[in-house]
Amino acid sequence: MRQTAVLVVALGVSGVGALAHADTTELGKDVFIKLSQPSCTVCHTLADAGSAGVIGPDLDELKPSRDRVVNAVTQGVGVMPAFEDSLSAEQIQAVADYIVSVTSTQD
Ligand code: HEC
Repeated sequence: MRQTAVLVVALGVSGVGALAHADTTELGKDVFIKLSQPSCTVCHTLADAGSAGVIGPDLDELKPSRDRVVNAVTQGVGVMPAFEDSLSAEQIQAVADYIVSVTSTQD
């Protein structure tokens, strides 16, 4: 019984990369749709999130890099507000992972 537990932990650790990725994109979708105030969906089109905002650029077309999303969300760009005070660093990283994962054609 004890050995089984150790094995499970070991497998868990080796699989952490893949799992963490799935978890952050899940969280990122929540950030995009619900946790951000105002919600990203109000201003941005993103097919995966079912949003059709037209105040900001269409993210399906823009296909921003991870860094570009992190910078925009943290500091704001133009009329887009900064979310530095309302979202955690983890949530900002997660929304960046999410956008890259649903718009990038590379992975
Ligand atoms: C009030 C409307 C509004 C909200 C809410 C909003 N954005 Fe934006 N966003 C904009 C506008 C407008 C721009 C274009 C700014 C410019 O280029 O001057 C922009 C630009 C961007 C860009 C491109 C930045 C660049 O480098 O060109 C990204 C990525 C982005 N937004 C992601 C997000 C995410 C993720 C959220 C939610 C956490 C969000 N936005 C919430 C209006 C908004």
